[in-house]
Amino acid sequence: MSSPPLSSPEAPMSLLTVFFCLLLFVKPTTSATASPATAASSPSIAPAASPANHSLPAPTASPAPPSTSPSRPSSSSTLDPKQLIALDSLNIPTTRDPCTKQPETATCDAGSPFRHLISLRLANCSADSVALSYTALKSLSTLQSLSFFDCPISPIRFPSDLVLNLRSFSAVSSLRHLTGVWLSRLVNVTDLTISDVPVSASGPYVILGNMHNLRSVTVSNANLSGSVPKHWHTNLTHIDFSDNILKGSIPNSITLIDNLQSLNLSLNQLDGEIPTEIGNLIALKNLSLSSNSLSGAIPISMASIPGLVSVDLSSNQLNGTVPRFFTEMRNLKYLNLAKNNFHGVIPFNESFIKKLEVFKIGENSNLCYNHSTLSSKLKLGIAQCDKHGLPMSPPPSKGDSSANDNADTSDYDDSGDSGNKSSHHHGPSKFVLGVAIALSSIVFLIVFLILLSKCCK
Ligand SMILES: *[C@@H]1O[C@H](CO)[C@@H](O)[C@H](O)[C@H]1NC(C)=O
Ligand SMILES: *[C@@H]1O[C@H](CO)[C@@H](O)[C@H](O)[C@H]1NC(C)=O
Ligand SMILES: *[C@@H]1O[C@H](CO)[C@@H](O)[C@H](O)[C@H]1NC(C)=O
Ligand SMILES: *[C@@H]1O[C@H](CO)[C@@H](O)[C@H](O)[C@H]1NC(C)=O
Ligand SMILES: *[C@@H]1O[C@H](CO)[C@@H](O)[C@H](O)[C@H]1NC(C)=O
Ligand SMILES: *[C@@H]1O[C@H](CO)[C@@H](O)[C@H](O)[C@H]1NC(C)=O
Ligand SMILES: *[C@@H]1O[C@H](CO)[C@@H](O)[C@H](O)[C@H]1NC(C)=O
Ligand SMILES: *[C@@H]1O[C@H](CO)[C@@H](O)[C@H](O)[C@H]1NC(C)=O
Ligand SMILES: *[C@@H]1O[C@H](CO)[C@@H](O)[C@H](O)[C@H]1NC(C)=O
Ligand SMILES: *[C@@H]1O[C@H](CO)[C@@H](O)[C@H](O)[C@H]1NC(C)=O
Ligand SMILES: *[C@@H]1O[C@H](CO)[C@@H](O)[C@H](O)[C@H]1NC(C)=O
Repeated sequence: MSSPPLSSPEAPMSLLTVFFCLLLFVKPTTSATASPATAASSPSIAPAASPANHSLPAPTASPAPPSTSPSRPSSSSTLDPKQLIALDSLNIPTTRDPCTKQPETATCDAGSPFRHLISLRLANCSADSVALSYTALKSLSTLQSLSFFDCPISPIRFPSDLVLNLRSFSAVSSLRHLTGVWLSRLVNVTDLTISDVPVSASGPYVILGNMHNLRSVTVSNANLSGSVPKHWHTNLTHIDFSDNILKGSIPNSITLIDNLQSLNLSLNQLDGEIPTEIGNLIALKNLSLSSNSLSGAIPISMASIPGLVSVDLSSNQLNGTVPRFFTEMRNLKYLNLAKNNFHGVIPFNESFIKKLEVFKIGENSNLCYNHSTLSSKLKLGIAQCDKHGLPMSPPPSKGDSSANDNADTSDYDDSGDSGNKSSHHHGPSKFVLGVAIALSSIVFLIVFLILLSKCCK
């Protein structure tokens, strides 16, 4: 899916230049008395704030609260000075009132005389600019939600007030290294997200054992070892332990979590069979067990999960035939059964396959498709069946693994008449369009500039 460059490398440069010139022209006319942009020198903490909001430093820099709405006394109080000092000491850039100025970074309660922080989100901080300190975190123990994104700073022991207050905790590519014991102290969290951080623990149970209110847990790409826990809180809706080194089988007890909507155990080292009673998970929408060593057949009970949207069982050693019941799942959009040991004739017709956004079934060497119901143009990556329902050998080269490589060239040559399926996400037309847009923008800007310079004289 590497998208083609939309324009030549020079185009953005000249665009930039033109914009720069434009800025020079415009600046003197607007109020250039903006206060010094403090945000520019410090690590960017409010990520999603639009550039417009960022580049316009609030004119009401310090005496904001008294001047604004006297009707709501609570919103006019400011943040507890202790918390402000704590934020400063963590080197978190704050405007005078982080409660109202940086909704992406911080939210506050409506307390009086002072407001207190309820949520704090640190993003893109560097180890040099931000250091956690126990005393600062102690002042911040009103927080219920704390998130770190791309903050490779050293973790410290959190004060117990903070730990007990937290309802939501996230660390994504942050905090360098965590332990199961450290995480297990977060007993009151409902949402836990740890991703791209190594976590040392003898198993997920060490982390989750005492989190009795947990609703959603992600511990992904965390080098987590051990086995899938046998005991679960039935209120869980989301479990993601993908991309770890979990071993053993998936316990059948996981099928007791009847609120579970999403289960992702992909990219581990799980073996054994898919729990036969997986059909008990009637709320399940997304299931990914891909890239493990699971064997056996797809359980028939899966037919009774009505709302499945996404099923990824690829890259395992599953066998048996491909069940027909997938065609009855009305919401199904994503079905990946590739790289397994399924055999027989696939029970799907063309209208079912075309309805799906993603359908993958390749690299199942004993699986074949019926040429009278499915066109070879679908490029399923499996062989056509002979009249006994066995794969014809050798598999026809046009429908097989060459699909990706050769399809490109044929699409270019046919100028889009056949090969519809893949031609819409690459091809020369987008490139031409991009260049055209870039060129016309430049022309437009130049004309605009000339007009501007004339009228300014
Ligand atoms: C972090 O900074 C990079 C560029 O430096 C930016 O692309 C990314 O969106 C930022 N991430 C967040 C979460 O702010
Ligand atoms: C820009 O700031 C205003 C006022 O602070 C806020 O209402 C608005 O949501 C902000 N827009 C974005 C995109 O952050
Ligand atoms: C958090 O958990 C502790 C221990 O489980 C419990 O005693 C306390 O009531 C909880 N705190 C809040 C604020 O819910
Ligand atoms: C991942 O875990 C293994 C042991 O389970 C350990 O030897 C290895 O150092 C860990 N890797 C990282 C990056 O933490
Ligand atoms: C599960 O959620 C329900 C409703 O939200 C709540 O009443 C119940 O106490 C929860 N059960 C557990 C074990 O947390
Ligand atoms: C499962 O996890 C993998 C790896 O983290 C991710 O790429 C994939 O999108 C997830 N699948 C679902 C259905 O959430
Ligand atoms: C299922 O996966 C899709 C696509 O990754 C996502 O948009 C959706 O929110 C997921 N649903 C649940 C319940 O996790
Ligand atoms: C499928 O795999 C299981 C376990 O590996 C094996 O016992 C069974 O015989 C296989 N079934 C078929 C039809 O190959
Ligand atoms: C394709 O299969 C579905 C489900 O089995 C069926 O409802 C539909 O009528 C079939 N369409 C064609 C064109 O055979
Ligand atoms: C292929 O489909 C045709 C028409 O539905 C049917 O007559 C034939 O038996 C099928 N062939 C195999 C091998 O299943
Ligand atoms: C090509 O794609 C269009 C829209 O995606 C679709 O309407 C048309 O039927 C397709 N043609 C072929 C030959 O698949």
